[in-house]
Amino acid sequence: MRILFRNLRLSRWSIVIGTALVSLIGVIFMTMDVNVSLPYRGELRVGRKNHTDWRWNTSTSTTPPLAQPTVDVFKCSLNDSMQNIPSSVPPPHRNFLMYKHCRTFPRLLSPTPCENDLFLLLAIKSTAIQVDRRIALRSTWGKRGYVQGKRVKLLFLVGKSLDRIQGFLLQQLLEWESRQFGDILQWDFEDSFFNLTLKEVHFLNWFTLECQWAHYVFKGDDDVFVHTSNLVEYVKGHKPSEQLFAGDIISRAYPIRHNQWKYFIPEEMYPNKPYPPYAGGGGYLMSRQTVLSLGVAVSSTDLFPIDDVFVGMCLQKINVTLTHHSGFKTFGFHQVVSHFNPCIYREIMLVHKLNPTEMWTMWSLLQDTKLKCFRLRI
Ligand SMILES: *[C@@H]1O[C@H](CO)[C@@H](O)[C@H](O)[C@H]1NC(C)=O
Ligand SMILES: *[C@@H]1O[C@H](CO)[C@@H](O)[C@H](O)[C@H]1NC(C)=O
Ligand SMILES: *[C@@H]1O[C@H](CO)[C@@H](O)[C@H](O)[C@H]1NC(C)=O
Ligand SMILES: *[C@@H]1O[C@H](CO)[C@@H](O)[C@H](O)[C@H]1NC(C)=O
Ligand SMILES: *[C@@H]1O[C@H](CO)[C@@H](O)[C@H](O)[C@H]1NC(C)=O
Repeated sequence: MRILFRNLRLSRWSIVIGTALVSLIGVIFMTMDVNVSLPYRGELRVGRKNHTDWRWNTSTSTTPPLAQPTVDVFKCSLNDSMQNIPSSVPPPHRNFLMYKHCRTFPRLLSPTPCENDLFLLLAIKSTAIQVDRRIALRSTWGKRGYVQGKRVKLLFLVGKSLDRIQGFLLQQLLEWESRQFGDILQWDFEDSFFNLTLKEVHFLNWFTLECQWAHYVFKGDDDVFVHTSNLVEYVKGHKPSEQLFAGDIISRAYPIRHNQWKYFIPEEMYPNKPYPPYAGGGGYLMSRQTVLSLGVAVSSTDLFPIDDVFVGMCLQKINVTLTHHSGFKTFGFHQVVSHFNPCIYREIMLVHKLNPTEMWTMWSLLQDTKLKCFRLRI
């Protein structure tokens, strides 16, 4: 019995030492591997061999394997008859004009289907690199589920990015994100400022085909704080089958003619007259009927590089009245009040611009039922 016990102890020790040695050798080996293969040249490959376990193991998982990175961007040839654009038109605008007729691009990533009882769709413009903003939204006001008993769904609208992060293609990380959360809707066009209008057109087409039973749509940026409960409360007094377009409405704005500005538009692209009324792009709210009407109107409207104005042009075509609501703070607060006061946020629809930390902080402050507020004028 004693001898047996000793033997057992001995063998236990040899197992421990043996394991430690094997691990040590393994660690040395792995370190060497990584050193040898650095720097990563942008493929999801780590170590000596192709690391298949970095990818999904298809034999144990129902999730599809990672697609190979598709780096080539969908091609549509330029309009040759546009060669005589005046030289005063800056290159980005020239590029826009030459490719304006390219309006249909393939879809790359699809979200989970819209639920039958979907009440409010939160369609948020994002880009592949803004992963921290998407994380913040998913865990705060964009959380999946129900608000006041109404189903809410978060969706990110994304174009194509060829950028890399630490050598890894953003596209591949986005594909993983899409599998994980099912909330990415992506198309194969470059995610540039001037292509935001394309995002609008593609979103409207997708809605008409795949989500047209949603009652309301909030469309906004990924750096806004949205009080979803106030949005739901507001639309309760409306019908999805009637026109509704509410936001921070801008009327009689003239095109900017200083070519150093982000929103510069040369005369060749828009005459000397005010834009139709439009909503500040931080975020606005629409009924199903308005989204569907917009979907029809865009097909006969020339693309315009500023997407908010483009939507205004389409709304004018379908005679939809734009409703101004002071709770849409797309330019922040005008008065001298701390923009970071939870009491203010209780009364608003949205505030532009918050970083992910502020987003999370404000969200937790608003959850505090003990919060006491005096009535504020904002
Ligand atoms: C690694 O992957 C590349 C491309 O996916 C393939 O051409 C190559 O044969 C693979 N090498 C090994 C050792 O599996
Ligand atoms: C995937 O998982 C199965 C079952 O666990 C295993 O037999 C197989 O070797 C794994 N494949 C890879 C490539 O890791
Ligand atoms: C190319 O531009 C010309 C001039 O503006 C326009 O008339 C024509 O319709 C455009 N072609 C396409 C394919 O959009
Ligand atoms: C829009 O995307 C297309 C396709 O990726 C690209 O060819 C074009 O240059 C982009 N346009 C602008 C104005 O960025
Ligand atoms: C919009 O209103 C104008 C004038 O009131 C009218 O001529 C036009 O037919 C209307 N368009 C639509 C699409 O209802």
